[in-house]
Amino acid sequence: MTLIADRVAFITGGANGIGLGIARSLARAGARLALVDLDAEALDRARAELGAIFTAVLDVRDRDAYARVADAAEAELGPVSILVNNAGVAGGAPTEKLTYELWDWGMGINLDGVINGVQTFLPRIAARDAGGHIVNTASGAGLVAGPGNTLYCTAKFAVVGMSEALYLELAPRKIGVTVLCPGPVATGIIDRTRSSQPKVTRAMSSEQRGKAFAQNEVMRNYLANGTPPDAVGDMVRDAIANDRLYVHTDRLAFDKIRERAQAQIDAMPAAV
Ligand SMILES: NC(=O)c1ccc[n+]([C@@H]2O[C@H](COP(=O)([O-])OP(=O)(O)OC[C@H]3O[C@@H](n4cnc5c(N)ncnc54)[C@H](O)[C@@H]3O)[C@@H](O)[C@H]2O)c1
Repeated sequence: MTLIADRVAFITGGANGIGLGIARSLARAGARLALVDLDAEALDRARAELGAIFTAVLDVRDRDAYARVADAAEAELGPVSILVNNAGVAGGAPTEKLTYELWDWGMGINLDGVINGVQTFLPRIAARDAGGHIVNTASGAGLVAGPGNTLYCTAKFAVVGMSEALYLELAPRKIGVTVLCPGPVATGIIDRTRSSQPKVTRAMSSEQRGKAFAQNEVMRNYLANGTPPDAVGDMVRDAIANDRLYVHTDRLAFDKIRERAQAQIDAMPAAV
């Protein structure tokens, strides 16, 4: 059981979508909030809605800035004991069209951003020896792969692996770990990603460009019918309170997760 009331929660990507949903839910449970994000206007809106919270513009890839913002948040609110590594982007390209710039951008935000959060805050939380909780937002795409999603899956599978290892390591220290593996959630991630993704892929044919555009439209509609972000926030709050490792927002990946587990088992040498 992790207490939430009166604890300080630091949420990356907290100004929009799932991060804001988590912020709202933790605020209702009595947490004090530090929200960081690249989107300054959305941070202003969150502050207007949620009242006396700490906010800062932070790119989670920037390690020095991360440490400075962590210091500032703790100076204002007190020690952070709930860390929510949630900032992320969708995007990517067919694998043979990916450039190093795109790899660095996607892995930088979706994986290094999580690593930077853990590197910044875990030593502080552990040194205080008063427990705490780390939430990492991965994805259903961190549990089962889909075609055309190599960059995203590479980062999100790593976030799941990291979270499972942390969960085992930190349990004796009373630091809980939750990995959020959402299915579709109704946020603006597709458009936000489109405006921030570097415009560099290896030259695509007009047919490939058309396919990518159509896929974006399909994804936008798919997410629009997904779980509301505030409902996801409540699921995360309950997982923190009850020290649960996994959060799934729906059952859409059920068959694929079972098929993957079965494929692993089937690939093992026969029992002797
Ligand atoms: N929406 C979905 O269907 C879905 C499904 C599975 C996983 N996820 C994951 O959930 C997380 C949140 O996504 P969302 O749907 O709420 O998206 P969103 O775009 O609504 O919110 C993401 C927030 O992260 C911020 N951000 C992006 N890059 C950043 C950076 N470098 N530094 C700091 N902040 C940055 C954005 O400004 C935005 O406010 C992401 O990690 C995403 O991969 C989303």
